[in-house]
Amino acid sequence: MDLTLRVWRQAGPDRPGAFEEYRAREISEDASFLEMLDVVNERLTLEGKEPITFDHDCREGICGTCGIMINGKPHGGQKGTATCQLHMRKFGNGDVIVVEPWRAAGFPVLKDLMVNRSAFDRIIEAGGYIGVDVGSAPEANLIPVPKAVSELAMDAAACIGCGACVAACPNNAAQLFTAAKVAHLNLLPQGQPERFARVEAMVDTMERFFGSCTNHGECEAACPKSISIDFIALLNKDYVRAKRINRAMVSRA
Ligand code: FES
Repeated sequence: MDLTLRVWRQAGPDRPGAFEEYRAREISEDASFLEMLDVVNERLTLEGKEPITFDHDCREGICGTCGIMINGKPHGGQKGTATCQLHMRKFGNGDVIVVEPWRAAGFPVLKDLMVNRSAFDRIIEAGGYIGVDVGSAPEANLIPVPKAVSELAMDAAACIGCGACVAACPNNAAQLFTAAKVAHLNLLPQGQPERFARVEAMVDTMERFFGSCTNHGECEAACPKSISIDFIALLNKDYVRAKRINRAMVSRA
């Protein structure tokens, strides 16, 4: 198939950007979107031109590194699909495809389609871990966890931190990412000792970089792992409790 790409090109964070048009010729419909960009880049390189910079790593929908706006939608808008898993058969021969980086103040553009997502690292640093020494794997029945709760924690842990939720949200809110990262620890026994310190620290850090949720629900629709916005309700509930409990602990200290 032959396609026309309108790609955002930007030489650096402080440089002006603009769309440039490229032809993507003889693309296999079995190629992924990133493989199609590889083909375009090979041709650009052979012509002595600067290839298009884009983030990628696993190319299996696991790492969350790939993240591109395709025709105005994060990851192209196909349900439960990261950019690396989006196949060209979803497009038609002769299509014009607009390709942009994530558009969010919290994710400044580094170059072309690559953005700086280190704000997510700051949120994780603030509390996305447990402080207890877990040691070697314990006997499975020593820490009873109801199956429904372990399933829910696993659903939250499916978040790959790609940032599509932020890019999709009109407020550029990171509530779905933060909620997933809080929930997969706060739901389990191992996450209880730091539960309320964790939620307060992670939400307060999130608010330094991102907007606030006003329940648009675009994040859930854009999430390549179909993470439910129900986790945002759990986050808000824990955050309200944390404000009360943490204040009481400080006044007693
Ligand atoms: S490259 Fe790892 S999720 Fe897409």
